Amino acid sequence: MPYLEVDNVFKSYGPIKALRGVTFNVNKGEYLCILGPTGAGKTTLLKIIAGLLKPDKGKVYLEGEDITNLPPEERGIVYMPQGYALFPHLTVWENVAYGVLTRGLPLKRAEKALKAVGLFHRRNSYPHELSGGQQQRVALARALASGSKILLLDEPLSALDLLLNIQLRYELRKYAKNLGLTVIHVTHNAEEAMSIADRLLVLNKGKIEQIGKPEDVYLHPKSAFVASFLSDVVMFRAILIKRMNDSCIFKINNLGNMLIKCSNPPDKRVLIAIRPEDIKMDLTKKHPLNTFKGIVENVEFEGIKTRVTVRINEHTFFIDLMFVERVPLRRGSQVFVHIPPDKPLIFPLHDEMKLKELISR
Ligand SMILES: Nc1ncnc2c1ncn2[C@@H]1O[C@H](COP(=O)(O)OP(=O)(O)OP(=O)(O)O)[C@@H](O)[C@H]1O
Ligand SMILES: [Mg+2]
Repeated sequence: MPYLEVDNVFKSYGPIKALRGVTFNVNKGEYLCILGPTGAGKTTLLKIIAGLLKPDKGKVYLEGEDITNLPPEERGIVYMPQGYALFPHLTVWENVAYGVLTRGLPLKRAEKALKAVGLFHRRNSYPHELSGGQQQRVALARALASGSKILLLDEPLSALDLLLNIQLRYELRKYAKNLGLTVIHVTHNAEEAMSIADRLLVLNKGKIEQIGKPEDVYLHPKSAFVASFLSDVVMFRAILIKRMNDSCIFKINNLGNMLIKCSNPPDKRVLIAIRPEDIKMDLTKKHPLNTFKGIVENVEFEGIKTRVTVRINEHTFFIDLMFVERVPLRRGSQVFVHIPPDKPLIFPLHDEMKLKELISR
């Protein structure tokens, strides 16, 4: 039996359809990340699971019991809201200890949680004496110390700088796993979600686009939306011109023909997506197939990788070169871009609509 079940949940605010038939399960002890753009319905979904909002339709089950109408305090689920609602007149220690005491739990929990977020030494400070990131860590400690078996975290790391975000995301997962907690962690940061989730749920406009292990979702995105939300894919419109056994030739306007491994294209007119790390680039033409001549527009050194922007007619390619494969480049250099036939992802053309909406947000 699944531990937590969300079954066909709908929720509207007047004319705004925030959730449109959401169904998924969470296993006991699982760390699930919900990933989606702003307005996708992530907070609404968490609030429904926490009992702070009633769905218009659909049910929430915990260990098989229908908890849809159960008050929040009887669910054993703690919800950490987006933004960190700390009591301003209480110290850091009091903020964390308050919930522990009202639940009759040992105070040691508050100490452990504050140590886990690295703020035990600031226990006598007031929230206004802390930075935004530190306040967020206190809110996190309060949720961790609550004794609830299910933690709903709404953008718990979004106010932190990158280094702290990376440090704390692993701490968070480790802490949850050590305590056997079940966590639903909402974020719009794909890298954060992929790096800590057991499973990833991609939500868009109130509907689930895809749910699965991070590697599976990344490698086999079901839609162009998922592909472009998880990485900076380069996208082209293309037309199928020839089908062979296990590959197809597509024509891309103002670029040329591209051979792609695929046995069953979704349509004659498609969208082709390629990830920057899958594109090859060289100063000479090394492959007879799928090689296009272009001009370097920009070179950004990013440490472990270099992001190169190459212009070929009206098309812009982003190419990520790893440190070891760096090529001496400057703006205006002529280069050859190669697309390995097994790398592109193919989606139906109507996926493009969703992408436009994503970009125009
Ligand atoms: N109380 C409300 N009244 C009216 N509309 C609301 C209310 N709360 C949310 N909405 C709308 O419902 C949709 C989903 O909102 P929600 O807050 O769940 O999205 P989200 O994925 O959490 O977004 P964000 O990443 O910006 O936090 C949005 O269009 C939002 O404007
Ligand atoms: Mg939200």
